[in-house]
Amino acid sequence: MKHAYTQLIATLRHWDYEYYVLDNPSVSDSHYDAAFRELLAIEAAHPDWVTPDSPSQRVGAEPISEFNKIEHRVKMLSLANAFSLEETYQFFEKAAKDLDIATDTLPIFSEPKLDGLAISIHYDNGLFSYAATRGDGQTGEDVSHNIKTIKSVPLQLATDNPPATLEVRGEVFMPKAAFAKLNSMAVETNGKTFVNPRNAAAGTIRQMDPKIAAGRDLRFIPYGIGDYQGDAEFMAHSQILDYLARLGFRKNAPCDSFLGSFAEFTRNYALMEQVRERLPMEIDGIVYKIDTLALQNTLGFIARSPKWAVARKFPAQLALTQLLEVDFQVGRTGVLTPVARLEPVFVGGVTVSNATLHNMDEIERLGLCIGDSVEIQRAGDVIPKISKVANIGAQRTAIIMPSVCPVCGAAVERTVGQAAYRCTGGLSCAAQGAERIRHYASRKCMNIINLGTKLIEVLYSKGILHTIADIYTLKASDIADLDGQGEKSAQNVLDSIKATKNTQLGTFIAALGIHEIGEESAKAIAKQFKNYPALISATYEDLLQVPDIGPVMAKNIVDFFADAKNQAIVQAIIDAGVNWPDVAADPAQAQPLAGQTWVITGTLSMPRDQAKAALEGLGAKVSGSVSKKTTAVLAGAEAGSKLAKAQELGVKVVAEEEFKKLLANYTSAELL
Ligand code: IVH
Repeated sequence: MKHAYTQLIATLRHWDYEYYVLDNPSVSDSHYDAAFRELLAIEAAHPDWVTPDSPSQRVGAEPISEFNKIEHRVKMLSLANAFSLEETYQFFEKAAKDLDIATDTLPIFSEPKLDGLAISIHYDNGLFSYAATRGDGQTGEDVSHNIKTIKSVPLQLATDNPPATLEVRGEVFMPKAAFAKLNSMAVETNGKTFVNPRNAAAGTIRQMDPKIAAGRDLRFIPYGIGDYQGDAEFMAHSQILDYLARLGFRKNAPCDSFLGSFAEFTRNYALMEQVRERLPMEIDGIVYKIDTLALQNTLGFIARSPKWAVARKFPAQLALTQLLEVDFQVGRTGVLTPVARLEPVFVGGVTVSNATLHNMDEIERLGLCIGDSVEIQRAGDVIPKISKVANIGAQRTAIIMPSVCPVCGAAVERTVGQAAYRCTGGLSCAAQGAERIRHYASRKCMNIINLGTKLIEVLYSKGILHTIADIYTLKASDIADLDGQGEKSAQNVLDSIKATKNTQLGTFIAALGIHEIGEESAKAIAKQFKNYPALISATYEDLLQVPDIGPVMAKNIVDFFADAKNQAIVQAIIDAGVNWPDVAADPAQAQPLAGQTWVITGTLSMPRDQAKAALEGLGAKVSGSVSKKTTAVLAGAEAGSKLAKAQELGVKVVAEEEFKKLLANYTSAELL
């Protein structure tokens, strides 16, 4: 059994290697997942077997509480930059002069300059020991917990004869596709988006909780070694890369290469510029290194960079064009984003005719008007943006945020203190429809488990779902007829819709997706108003009385229910059978007179029964005779012996006017 376990570890490790290092998987994802689950099951049964190199150990149990400092045993250097072919030549001419050899005999190795962050990974006797960021080159931070989650980082080196110490240095990056996916998911869930893959990789490595890194697709490619104590003898940088590849690391290939002479630089650069678009990761230049280690050592370094390597940076991809028009796109959460329509222009290998402008602040910052000539900047797969106004247009028109939503016609408003403008169309704005439905059905809201995001999007795009109320008119045939669905799954969806009809008011309010009203605030609102009619008739001032509800939230709620379309949608949902109990009265609040005994005497302006019910409703007992234990006597006109008794015993006497004020304090007026 234990043998089977070690075998399983070796198999999984090999599959990781095939997938993440060789880009050549031999098994399907589901096959891999099944084996991984088996591994977890064995480890659960035999916790003492678990070894640190088991694939299950990539995600450590607990988030770290701080980053420990790591002193680099060998300083981590940076690279000098060259921005042209001339500068590249000059760099190596100088090196050749120092070495006193002919420039065109220098052995130059070329590698893509990966656009991520430098990481140093330490192995002791072949086992992963720790990993650190570059920091200032001298001291970095321990990020082992996140680096261990990267599947192209071996936890154990693939050799029977591991070096006593090995420090592998290289770049951690996020592939373009993984970056695009991460950002589109962030947009859907209103989460933080990243500007580019490098920021996404760096932001991930800076997380305390390794589960975040484990859920994102980071990769590692080595480009050298630092500290090393082992048997291998290296003559050249390229031999080190080959050695690392044998130990289980990825090579910088497919586009690293050995350059014969200076003449090769031009060809190599042109090739890399072309290849760049098609590479799965961002590169921001080419690194040229003198391959022979003896020559490297002779040259040494100046300040913080070696004299044997230089980074030829790609120029920023810029072009000039004209801003023709600005359209406003309404996003899934109602935010209006200005989008620049441009005179098509060729930049960085593609034709660009649109660029995002983010928000109105950005337009103001750029001083941009329609008709201006603008500079377009493009970085890899990142959406092109306008970097500046190059020339003010002869005829220019100001860019104005529309006052009504271009999709539904509802008013557009800017929340105080925020850059974004939003459509106030709420549940009926088509641009927000699918997102509203997804939110409504989501786990934390109505929890309609079988109505998932994909299905919602299909039903929405087919015009079957327009608003959240349409969920309750779905028919089995609406779903069963879709690709990949059937009678059974359709029934499951309908069952889960039905099963979630009994809900709580707080849950339902949260599910409506009113801007800024989350789970907690929805609960507080439900607690205060107790039922739906009270909620929709609540005024702005009433809402401000709710704990933790501020002016913006109060306004959003009032606006939401002031919209007849929103009310109609909610009513349709209630009519379809969605229901909740009145929120139970908070005993402390609802029974302010608990423990008190009252006596009513004399003639009141209201029926005596009503006064009695009001007192009982507040928790008081109403008795027929006055004693020392009586808390108070409610005395109407012409009160007689009971009033006298009260005065005699020193019991508090309350006149009707005072009584009414007291009731008004505790209850709503209908009680009277
Ligand atoms: S060599 C002593 N090779 O670029 C040389 N660096 O601008 C140290 N980088 O900190 C680095 N790809 O994070 C080297 N193929 C490559 C690289 C590379 C990306 C990064 C690395 C370094 C930065 C310097």
